[in-house]
Amino acid sequence: MAQEQWNAVDQYIADQLVTADAALEAALADSAAAGLPAINVAPNQGKLLQLLARIQGARSVLEIGTLGGYSTIWLARALPAGGRVITLEVDRKHAEVARANIARAGLSEVVEVRLGRALDLLPQLAAEGRGPFDFIFIDADKPSNPDYFAWALKLSRRGSVIVIDNVVRRGAVADAGSDDPNVQGARRLHEALAAEPRVSATAIQTVGSKGYDGFAIALVTADP
Ligand code: SAH
Ligand code: DHB
Ligand code: MG
Repeated sequence: MAQEQWNAVDQYIADQLVTADAALEAALADSAAAGLPAINVAPNQGKLLQLLARIQGARSVLEIGTLGGYSTIWLARALPAGGRVITLEVDRKHAEVARANIARAGLSEVVEVRLGRALDLLPQLAAEGRGPFDFIFIDADKPSNPDYFAWALKLSRRGSVIVIDNVVRRGAVADAGSDDPNVQGARRLHEALAAEPRVSATAIQTVGSKGYDGFAIALVTADP
């Protein structure tokens, strides 16, 4: 019952407020056709990310966890001319599907998809002197979220915004006894956010077509 209602309301919101974009719809269709899991953000969530990036005035975006590039395209479309997205993906097939989706969206010059484990690629970005990024979206393997947050902070500046997906896990985040590594990752992420004096953070529960989960958002308030 609840899920049906959440789907209906997400559909209503999308119909009202989230303009259908042929490249985004094609990205989802081709991702499904290629057998990728449908764990992309929902359309209204993609637009939320886009709005947050625009509110921030972002010109440079880092994404951890590309999948088929759906959230990547939302974020890339937030940027002014000359803006850039770097997105990190460990799965070769996901990265290939994403590159094709990004090319069809006309964003190949804006988005760089890097293939590899994020925990290998993030130190490489730092060593190359990339960053600071204005906006960072963390949406890969959940047990690594505390590590991804630490890297995101290193690759930030005062005023950067860090958003982390899937931090509520159907409410299990409040269960201290959970042995689910994804839940433990979400709990350790909250602890890291709470303990970090250089950010101000909150988290929000979400329901919708992707079920019951949530986002955390952190504003970097001091130069790391
Ligand atoms: N941000 C996407 C969804 C990402 S799903 C969207 O909303 O459209 C999570 C992705 O993270 C998957 O494609 C998975 O292959 C990737 N991933 C998992 N572990 C990873 C790792 N260690 N390094 C980089 N990517 C990883
Ligand atoms: C999963 C990953 C996601 O990024 C998400 O939004 C939902 C589920 C997963 O790995 O199950
Ligand atoms: Mg996610």
